[in-house]
Amino acid sequence: MNRSHAPAAIDISAPSSVLHLGVKEWVARIAALTKPERVYWCDGSQAEYDRLCEEMVQAGTLRKLNPALRPNSYLAWSDPTDVARMEDRTFICSELKEHAGPTNNWMPPAEMRGTLHHLFDGCMRGRTMYVVPFSMGPLGSHIAQIGIELTDSPYVAVSMKVMTRMTSKVWDILGRNGEFVPCIHSLGAPLGKGQKDVPWPCNKDQKYIVHFPETREIWSFGSGYGGNALLGKKCLALRIASAMGRQEMEAGGDGWLAEHMLILGVTSPEGKKSFVSAAFPSACGKTNFAMLVPPPAFAGWKVTTVGDDIAWIKPGKDGRLYAINPEAGFFGVAPGTSDKSNPNCMASLKANVIFTNVALTPEGDVWWEGMTDTPPAELLDWQGQPWTPETGKAEGRKAAHPNSRFTVPASQCPCIDPDWENPQGVPISAFIFGGRRSNTMPLVAEAFSWTDGVYMAATMGSETTAAATGKVGVVRRDPFAMIPFCGYNMADYFSHWLKLGKHLTHRPHIFCVNWFRTDANGKFIWPGFGDNMRVLKWIVDRCDGHAHAVETPIGWVPEFDDLEWKGLDGFSHEKFKAITAIHIEDWAAELFAHDELFNTLKFSLPRELALRRELLQLTLTS
Ligand code: OXD
Ligand code: MN
Repeated sequence: MNRSHAPAAIDISAPSSVLHLGVKEWVARIAALTKPERVYWCDGSQAEYDRLCEEMVQAGTLRKLNPALRPNSYLAWSDPTDVARMEDRTFICSELKEHAGPTNNWMPPAEMRGTLHHLFDGCMRGRTMYVVPFSMGPLGSHIAQIGIELTDSPYVAVSMKVMTRMTSKVWDILGRNGEFVPCIHSLGAPLGKGQKDVPWPCNKDQKYIVHFPETREIWSFGSGYGGNALLGKKCLALRIASAMGRQEMEAGGDGWLAEHMLILGVTSPEGKKSFVSAAFPSACGKTNFAMLVPPPAFAGWKVTTVGDDIAWIKPGKDGRLYAINPEAGFFGVAPGTSDKSNPNCMASLKANVIFTNVALTPEGDVWWEGMTDTPPAELLDWQGQPWTPETGKAEGRKAAHPNSRFTVPASQCPCIDPDWENPQGVPISAFIFGGRRSNTMPLVAEAFSWTDGVYMAATMGSETTAAATGKVGVVRRDPFAMIPFCGYNMADYFSHWLKLGKHLTHRPHIFCVNWFRTDANGKFIWPGFGDNMRVLKWIVDRCDGHAHAVETPIGWVPEFDDLEWKGLDGFSHEKFKAITAIHIEDWAAELFAHDELFNTLKFSLPRELALRRELLQLTLTS
């Protein structure tokens, strides 16, 4: 053979700490398919992070912010077509369509594999393939899982360092034959010889975010943004993990839950601490609730953050549920975040942040809508165009994209809980489910039982906001806030929750909340933010058995005097009534919508839920 004509072989040799033959074989196989120019095994060190960021500054992907104002922080502006998760390009490819269920996009795995093979063939040409070893959850925790992401995006590699425990220690945990979730990501933008790169490469025509729950694989093509590309988050920690938790119960184990939930700790002035986990759809103030600052009248009360987006929850030997936050960072929506709405979050963002799609000030700092009451006089918007408050208003153009983000280590949060990295997790006393509803749903209600709580969560809905859909006020059913994130049939997911609860001796209490009821003028009645502490206090007191409530058809609810009102002058009995009243006409429409949802899911809907609906219908209309 004439060796000079052989294609240049690339060096894929692994560091000596990688003992796992399966990993080496897989990396070699994916490199042979995607044909990168080089393979780089990440070690997750700070030096590596700094070097990759510097390379991206040189390439124009990142801009270094003014170190005097925002030390060690960067700003990326994405391609304007690559700005959000793409639910319509997200697939759950189980062997059988009914295992993905009616709320997920599905394609037969063999057909999808054919499509992916074609797309990934040569898709990394001219680029580096980064091998990113990471743990979701504290290293070595019995609740944690190992993933390895292969990506041709250095932006993804550095973001994974912030969002996960990305470290070469993962190779020691894996040993020779440990289990890992293989995650393959490509921007789908190969570079020809001598072709100049763009700041934010992506594939404008083809995007696929694909999950194979049976073989626990993730393949993502075409997007470099957020949940489409940082595969530890929505793809592994929710879609694949939710399927794993159920598979383990089906195989005879205890099973576990992977939930779209924040986790927070509440400590009373007497020093009694409880943990609660709460699910809200996007755009309901989840990060604000996770970092709540109690009002001054709640002297001695403390709220601490374990996680802001995802919880992995396992039964412990004592019959309680224990939760960990599988992530190591926050990937939060910037617009609306301010010293008023979320001072803890703002304090977290002082340094070591990667911002994406926010605006740039002339001083080299960032700005987004809602950060300050008065916008700076001039900015570069998220597409690098000059922007002033006047032109922005006249042209209806936002300075920051509505889905612009910050990526920041959770350890920087001033209210981070001391147990946030406890490998055992924290014991959960309550689950809270909340949507954005201008009517119907009361401020708070406690379910009568685990089954009723599962019904509450299964039927939750949230009104759409302009940022998410362009349409305002349409109620989208979003069971458990998991519609975009459940890796299997939603009706089977309800059954999994019901079964898991049956085996617990100390079941968390289940509540629904709604901060968003409006008056006749469309104005929010409840002040929200820190005042949500008033509801949170009632919730933890209920779990301890010393808060009063009255029975209604939908659950236990507080009376006016059951909430602490100190420091909230002027919140009248009338206002309280307006946010707690249960109107029969609203509930007739609500139950009709529940029926529609259950019809969609009827193939394997648990009987208990259909029965609960019938009972509600009877009690509400008789
Ligand atoms: C998120 C979301 O980005 O839920 O966390 O959309
Ligand atoms: Mn989320």
